[in-house]
Amino acid sequence: MVEEEQSRKSVREGYAKIAKEGLRCKFSTSCCESPTPYEELSKKMGYTKEELNSIPKGSNLGLGCGNPVALSSLKEGETVIDLGSGAGVDCFLAAKKVGENGKVIGIDMTPEMLDKARENAKKGNYENVEFRLGEIEHLPVADNTADVIISNCVINLTTNKKQVYKEAFRALKPGGRIIVSDLVLKKELPAAIREGAHPSSCIKTAILKDKYLDIIEEVGFKDIKILNEKEYCFEELTDDPNIEVIDANHNTNTRELKSISELDEKSKRIASEALASTLSINVSAIKP
Ligand SMILES: C[S@@+](CC[C@H](N)C(=O)[O-])C[C@H]1O[C@@H](n2cnc3c(N)ncnc32)[C@H](O)[C@@H]1O
Repeated sequence: MVEEEQSRKSVREGYAKIAKEGLRCKFSTSCCESPTPYEELSKKMGYTKEELNSIPKGSNLGLGCGNPVALSSLKEGETVIDLGSGAGVDCFLAAKKVGENGKVIGIDMTPEMLDKARENAKKGNYENVEFRLGEIEHLPVADNTADVIISNCVINLTTNKKQVYKEAFRALKPGGRIIVSDLVLKKELPAAIREGAHPSSCIKTAILKDKYLDIIEEVGFKDIKILNEKEYCFEELTDDPNIEVIDANHNTNTRELKSISELDEKSKRIASEALASTLSINVSAIKP
């Protein structure tokens, strides 16, 4: 429990900083202005330019690893919960699909992210979106609330993934669906790499794909499907040294977007091991 709390604290601090400063980048002094380097990153993760242009500026911080809304076949009037909603990107995309009779609830434990998301909702006049402060391990929603639960690159950050999926199961209506984009391991990370990773980085608490899918099944979900998965192999990176990675610095607690070729040797080794060991997956399941 102490470890779980400590991990959440590190993650919260890391994302509070990103909410306030953005991912620092070499392209401009302000990452949130257009055109953003996030946009390129996000297009690689499955968003279209039109989708990114349809939401308030500053709601996409380039933190996702998929586009769960695009895979969730949302219908008018549905209620959606987004686990770890960040600055609101997927909530705003979902809000358009469920319309004024639908509702989207974004949940995030980082107050600074929530402030940003609420500001963005105001900018875009979203009346069907609400952001709630809370942990995804203890969802601030009643049982059987949602038709659909989405999440984008968040569950990898918790040390208690089973509790998150249990909570998602509780919060879904019977027959409801969950669509998650997340980062999993295709092979175990060397201990030194995991230990050396930034406390709020995605790889610190990521687990093997099979273990991840077992957890979803163990809590009672059915019809579990991997909709697609994407590998980040290092050969690809050596071919393209300009591919960007997030370089986390423990001492300054900063995270910068950098090309592989700009990293120091230690970071290059961590990045290459991490990229060679991870997969981004989109998975769906049903609460019977
Ligand atoms: C990688 S970012 C993804 C944000 C958003 N889903 C997106 O795609 O832009 C992770 C977000 O999840 C939140 N988060 C991480 N762990 C959480 C937890 N245990 N409970 C609630 N929120 C959490 C962080 O505060 C952060 O905003």
